[in-house]
Amino acid sequence: MSRVSRRTLLTGGVGLAGLGVGAAAVGAGREMSAPQPEASTLPFYGRHQSGIVTPMQTHASYIGIDLLDKADHQALHGILRMWSQDAANLTQGKPGFSDTEPELATSPARLSMTVGLGPGAFTSAALAARRPSWLAPLPAFAIDRLQEQWGQTDLVVLVASDDPMSLAHAVRAVIAPVRRRTRLRWVQQGFHHGRNLFGQVDGTVQPADDRHDDLVWNDGAEQKWLAGGTSLVLRRIAMNMDTWEALDRRGRELSTGRTLDNGAPLTGVDEHDEPVFTATRGGVPVIPESSHIARAHRRSDREQFLRRPYSYDSPPDSGLIFATYQRDPLVQYVPVQQRLSDHDALNEWTTPIGSAVYAMLPGPKEYLGETLFA
Ligand code: HEM
Repeated sequence: MSRVSRRTLLTGGVGLAGLGVGAAAVGAGREMSAPQPEASTLPFYGRHQSGIVTPMQTHASYIGIDLLDKADHQALHGILRMWSQDAANLTQGKPGFSDTEPELATSPARLSMTVGLGPGAFTSAALAARRPSWLAPLPAFAIDRLQEQWGQTDLVVLVASDDPMSLAHAVRAVIAPVRRRTRLRWVQQGFHHGRNLFGQVDGTVQPADDRHDDLVWNDGAEQKWLAGGTSLVLRRIAMNMDTWEALDRRGRELSTGRTLDNGAPLTGVDEHDEPVFTATRGGVPVIPESSHIARAHRRSDREQFLRRPYSYDSPPDSGLIFATYQRDPLVQYVPVQQRLSDHDALNEWTTPIGSAVYAMLPGPKEYLGETLFA
């Protein structure tokens, strides 16, 4: 029985409108109280994969997987076809292939399953020439304390949903059927709230929607097969809660350059006010030059990327699963990361412990990876 019909029974036959959950509530993301199957599916087919510019779902798992035989491109082909079949069904609220728990598929709650390839996926002779030139480990940064356990994998699947049960069910469908041909390296589970664990409003500054075509999506100029795809930079950044909590509120705001109250820049009133980095008070910059936003703010038009920060919390290890999507990480992401590594007040409380880069596949007409294997 679906969540809709179960709720309908429990509430004595009150329809969707009576529950206050309609199409208008869907875009509201975390405000959505009871996701309804029909109203809350994201497309699986299309020019782009869902789950990238989609408004963030509340729960997400990034799954890092290695191929046992990297030279076997047919094995990769088979895995992508298998995942496509399951994702096409599960995202639409239908059971996956040989689904042992079909009841868990009925409330997708904006479920998306988004697949990407790491450098290792291009090891086979058949695919070697198809690796995008930027698909390689990021340069080493002085602030990095990278742990192998959160390192680069051959494949990544981002599974995200507003319903943690629907998410867990879909994660099984990713991992279980490929067990003989792959090794599961990590699952990074996160949640999205609008604030991170430091209490900061996080995710405010983003590329404008009408810039996605040139800042996020690949145009196929270097690798034709990747048109409509993008790149993912996935950094696991530990946040030291103990030392952050020892800092007073003013100190926290100065280190970030924004208020804790509503995320407004220290020169403004509302969250989306444009920060004025040149403003001074008594000869001192209102937004400190060493603050996170002063250091991270773009110095050129190309230094922009989509940030999708998910919090993770496994005390004493808490932090951000910091994911960014951009057409070219070397041109857009690396200059900003280098500047932050050189100096950023927040570095005192944050430590990158994982790093990986992926080519996120274009959206499918029939199945994921079809243009790569064409
Ligand atoms: C902005 C937190 C790591 C790039 C912000 C903001 C917060 C924040 C609170 C202000 C609100 C917003 O625009 O979202 C954090 C925390 C981090 C972290 C807690 C680590 C745990 C990074 C990293 C990068 C980055 C690694 C890139 C390499 C940016 C950019 C902005 C920003 C580009 C917008 C700056 C602007 O133009 O105003 N971050 N951040 N952040 N962050 Fe981070």
